[in-house]
Amino acid sequence: MQKAALYECQSCGSRYPKWKGQCEACGEWNTLIETQEIKENKLKNSYNKDTKSQTLADVEHEDILYYKTGITELDNVLGKGLVKGSMVLLGGEPGIGKSTLSLQVCQECAQQGLTVLYISSEESESQIKSRALRLDNEIPENVWVFSQTNMMAIMKECERINPDIILLDSIQVVNHPELTSLEGTVSQVRYCATTLINWVKTYNKSAIMIGHITKDGQIAGPKVLEHLVDTILYLEGDRHFNNRILRCHKNRYGSTDHIGLFEMKEKGLKAIKDPSQAFIETSQDSTPGSVIVPYSQGNRIILLEIQALVIESGYGMAKRNFVGINPNRANLLIAALDKLCHLKLSAHDIFLTVLGGFSITDPSADLAIAVAIISSLKQQVVTNRIGICGEVGLTGEIRPISHVDKRIIELNKCGFKGVIVPKKNIITTSDKSTMNVIQVSYINDVLEHSFKRLSKIHA
Ligand SMILES: Nc1ncnc2c1ncn2[C@@H]1O[C@H](COP(=O)(O)OP(=O)(O)OP(=O)(O)O)[C@@H](O)[C@H]1O
Ligand SMILES: [Mg+2]
Repeated sequence: MQKAALYECQSCGSRYPKWKGQCEACGEWNTLIETQEIKENKLKNSYNKDTKSQTLADVEHEDILYYKTGITELDNVLGKGLVKGSMVLLGGEPGIGKSTLSLQVCQECAQQGLTVLYISSEESESQIKSRALRLDNEIPENVWVFSQTNMMAIMKECERINPDIILLDSIQVVNHPELTSLEGTVSQVRYCATTLINWVKTYNKSAIMIGHITKDGQIAGPKVLEHLVDTILYLEGDRHFNNRILRCHKNRYGSTDHIGLFEMKEKGLKAIKDPSQAFIETSQDSTPGSVIVPYSQGNRIILLEIQALVIESGYGMAKRNFVGINPNRANLLIAALDKLCHLKLSAHDIFLTVLGGFSITDPSADLAIAVAIISSLKQQVVTNRIGICGEVGLTGEIRPISHVDKRIIELNKCGFKGVIVPKKNIITTSDKSTMNVIQVSYINDVLEHSFKRLSKIHA
C-alpha cells in the first residue's frame, strides 16, 4: 500500500498535488485540505483474465426483488419497496426526522422477520432504545443496534450478523482507519460509502444511509456519492409545521415523481390522512392575496395555498422574498406581469409563500402565483372555493398543463365550486358539469374577466 499527499477540494472532490487558494473545478475558495489516499496500483495493473463480454441476449435475467418496508408512503416513493441489492441515500435538514424514519423502517422490517442492523454513529445504544420505545412499545427481536464510527468495525459486524437490511446513521460521521483524513471529508465519505455499497452489492442486501445536507440544501460530500447510490431521497418540511414531505431525487428502479406525505406525531412519522387538503387552511375565509392551486405531484393531486403580499416599496430597490417557490421562476412571472398588465410591480415589494412547507417545482402553479400577486395588489378577494392552474408563457399566453381532469375531479371532491384552467386543455371529465370551469388563453383574461367571474361565483 503506497500513500501520497494530495490536496482535495471539500466542495467538489477535485484533487491537486499542490495547495491552491481557489479550486479550479468548482471555483470555491479555501476548500482544499491535505489528504492521503491509498494508491490502488496493484488493482489497476491486474485483471481477471477469464472475464469476457457476452451478448445482451445471453445475459441471465433476474427479476428485481423488493422488501416491503411496511411504511406505504415510503414504499410508493421507492417504487414498490426497498430493492434487494440496492443502496438508498436519505438526506434532510437537522431534526427533520431522518433517524425517526429509519428506525421505523427497522422496526417494521423486523416485524416481518427480516434481520436488521441499525448502525448509529451519532447516538448511543440506550438513546436509540428510548427513541424506539417512543415509536413502539413492543421492540421486535431481529433489530440489532451498533453505536460505532469505525468503518472497519462496522463491516466486521455486518459480516457477523449478516443482516438483510442495514441502516447507517450517518455517512458523514463514520471514518475508515485506512485514511488519515477527518470524518466528513470528501475522501472519507467516498471511501466509507464505497466500502458499504460493495458489501451490499456482493451479498445482495439492502441498505439505507443517512446523509447530512449543506446550507444550500444539497447532500454534504462529493457529487460522486450521489452517483454511487441507487436512490436518493430527501425528507423535507418546515420546522414550524408537522408535515413532512419525502421526495425522490434519483431512482434507478422506478419513477422519481411520487412523494410521501407524513405528519410528525408523538409515535413517529405517520401518513397524512387527507393529503389533498393537508396544505390549505380551509377554515379561514379567503383574504386578498390567497389562491388555491390543484398541484399535481406523481400519482396525487394536492391542493396548495399560495399567499402573496404586495406593498409599495419605501425607497431603494424593491424587496423580493419567496418561500417554497423557485426565485427565478417567480421573478420571471413578476417581470411578465409587470410588462403585460402594466402593474408597476417594480415599485412594489413582493413576498410569496406556499403554506405548509411545500416547495413548488412545476410551472402549472404559475397562474395561481400571478393571480395571488394581482389579488394582493388590487386588494380583490379570490374566493377559496375556486382553484386556479395553468402555465404562464413570457408573452402572457396560458399554456396547457398535465392532468387537468384529475385536478378538476379533486377540487370537486373537496367541495370547490369553480376552476380556472388553460383554454388549450381539453376537458373530458363529467365533473365539468357540476363545476364552473373557466378556460383562459391570456394573462389579461384573468385580470379583466376572471375576477368579475370569481365574484359571481362567490355571490
Ligand atoms: N415525543 C415527541 N413527540 C413528537 N415529536 C417528537 C418527539 N420527540 C422527537 N420528536 C420530533 O422528532 C424530531 C427529531 O427527529 P430525528 O432525530 O429523527 O431527526 P434527524 O433528522 O435524525 O436529525 P439529526 O440530523 O439531528 O440527526 C424532532 O425535531 C421532533 O420534531
Ligand atoms: Mg438523526
